[in-house]
Amino acid sequence: MNALRMPDALLRRHFADALPAARRDHALARWDAHAPRLFAALRRIYIDAPGSDHALSTLVAGMAACAGARADALHALDIARERDPRWFLAADMLGYSTYVDRFGGTLRGVAERVPYLQRLGVRYLHLLPFLRQRDGDSDGGFAVRDYDRVDPALGDDADLDTLTARLRDAGISLCADLVLNHTADDHRWALAACAGDARYRDYYHVFPDRTLPDAHERTLGQVFPLTAPGNFTEVPGLGHVWTTFYPYQWDLNWANPDVFVEMALTLLRLANRGVEAFRLDSTAYLWKRLGTDSMNQPEAHALIQALRAVVDIVAPGVLLKAEAIVPAPALVPYFGSGDDAGHECHLAYHSTLMASLWAALAERRADPLRTAFARTPALPAGCGWLAYLRCHDDIGWNVLREEAAGGAAHAGFDLARIARFYAGVEPGSDARGRGFQNAGEDVVHGTNGMTAALCGLDAARERGDAAALAAAEARFLLLHGLMLAAPGLPTLYMGDEIALGNDEAYAGDPLRADEGRWLHRPAMDWTTAEAVERGMADDSAGHIGTALRRMLGVRAAEPAFRGDAPMRVLGFDDPAVLGLLRGDDVLVLANLSPREVAVAPQGEDALPRAGWRDLLAHDDATHALPATLAPHALRWLRRIDKADARA
Ligand code: GLC
Repeated sequence: MNALRMPDALLRRHFADALPAARRDHALARWDAHAPRLFAALRRIYIDAPGSDHALSTLVAGMAACAGARADALHALDIARERDPRWFLAADMLGYSTYVDRFGGTLRGVAERVPYLQRLGVRYLHLLPFLRQRDGDSDGGFAVRDYDRVDPALGDDADLDTLTARLRDAGISLCADLVLNHTADDHRWALAACAGDARYRDYYHVFPDRTLPDAHERTLGQVFPLTAPGNFTEVPGLGHVWTTFYPYQWDLNWANPDVFVEMALTLLRLANRGVEAFRLDSTAYLWKRLGTDSMNQPEAHALIQALRAVVDIVAPGVLLKAEAIVPAPALVPYFGSGDDAGHECHLAYHSTLMASLWAALAERRADPLRTAFARTPALPAGCGWLAYLRCHDDIGWNVLREEAAGGAAHAGFDLARIARFYAGVEPGSDARGRGFQNAGEDVVHGTNGMTAALCGLDAARERGDAAALAAAEARFLLLHGLMLAAPGLPTLYMGDEIALGNDEAYAGDPLRADEGRWLHRPAMDWTTAEAVERGMADDSAGHIGTALRRMLGVRAAEPAFRGDAPMRVLGFDDPAVLGLLRGDDVLVLANLSPREVAVAPQGEDALPRAGWRDLLAHDDATHALPATLAPHALRWLRRIDKADARA
């Protein structure tokens, strides 16, 4: 009998028999709670798949071994987080995302910088790929050659163990990328496939000729239309391999149960080395279906739900984060839908909100942002958004196509114009970003650049123009202030805490010159960072560094900024004004335009005029609700009467 048709009790016995005594009771209790979901998800996909018997027994034995091998410190985290499953949504949670080499040189270098991260208030550190990467170009490490080894340029396995222990002691959870959609073409599975091994050829999507690839292409999109057009690559001696991203990134065939087992056990091994969160890279692409864009397919969700159940059984302290850069309606299902709501990812990048923040700034109006916030649903308990402004990728405009078309809630906007604005070619724009993969002026794809460059700071610095500097600083802080006030776990992008600008040096590196995203992957400027920390930087880095730290401190202490505290979008007469109520009594006000605006709340959103404390000011004075907001001003206000009543 196919093992997926076996009664669950038999599978349980198989798991129990393989469990070492040490963690037996906990593991079995978790099995009882979560295994039904695991098998329901696996049955949806693999019930008729050849080889699922063998795959399933490897999975169950591997899960038992990993459950037994979980270190005491991690076991303690598991227990604590089962008791407090919303731990990562606390108001004092702050994320930070960076490349290992750009930030600390090596994993050891990162470990030495842990005190810096602590002083900033970081509790969640996303290190971009650090596993052994492809030789030559590797898409910044997203072409993984070996998931079980640290990249030798960044350290060794012992360094990873030391780093995770050090971070854990500092109360910082390490998040690592788990590149699920593809491996490098020099991964041993790919090499074996090339050598004619049928077992490993089945790990990938390999076609003998162009018939099926052409049929798929009719409905597929393109991630890198200019530098890697098409979705298939001809590999001599093998065939046409599905390569959604670069030709050297081979998409895995998740219809093969062995692939699921390999990746699930890879995840658990990394979790046992102290990785506490996984960024599930390119999750939207895991399942292919002819006649569709092969994104967000129901099977992709079932696969992630199965991974989540594996984690809940073996390493329940671990978080899963979806990296699915897709329009908002397709994003919410990554938290699970229907009966499975809350049983898929804990976190997902809120790419619509991120892109809407940038669109609103360029458009000088808040109404698209009001829509983005208003359409941000409350999530199942134990789920949260990953709020961010910049990351190592471009700002992808495609997620905003529907919003750009406009509707009842707001008038449309022109994404091509916004992309030109950030490339600095629109009248009145000081931005120093650059288009990414845009096929011509009007076919817009993405925008690259550091926040400082996109907000006009790089240009103002060059000109030494004090008024332009102040205006750019205001825009920088406005966007960060909104990102930090949004629901979810906010994540800073390395360098933004000191307003680091673009890095043009990539153009001189042959491996990077054709990849515009390196524009915003600079090396950390530790001299400036230290000056900012010591209060010795009397420039934009210092102004922004100080103001941002102030915001971080306020956010951390304010329960209304919990990642899962309620949010309401308020209505204002002026379309440039954004007002959000977090919790019952924290009001976030922003002016997205470069003109002074009147703060006139609409009808039922009338707010008390008096009795507000300005959370970002350095006094405890009571203020009236501001009647106007200066250009690009941001305010975080709290109603005092409520606060006093609470005290
Ligand atoms: C994700 C990464 C991106 C990478 C791609 C392919 O989108 O964020 O940097 O190019 O996956 O792995």
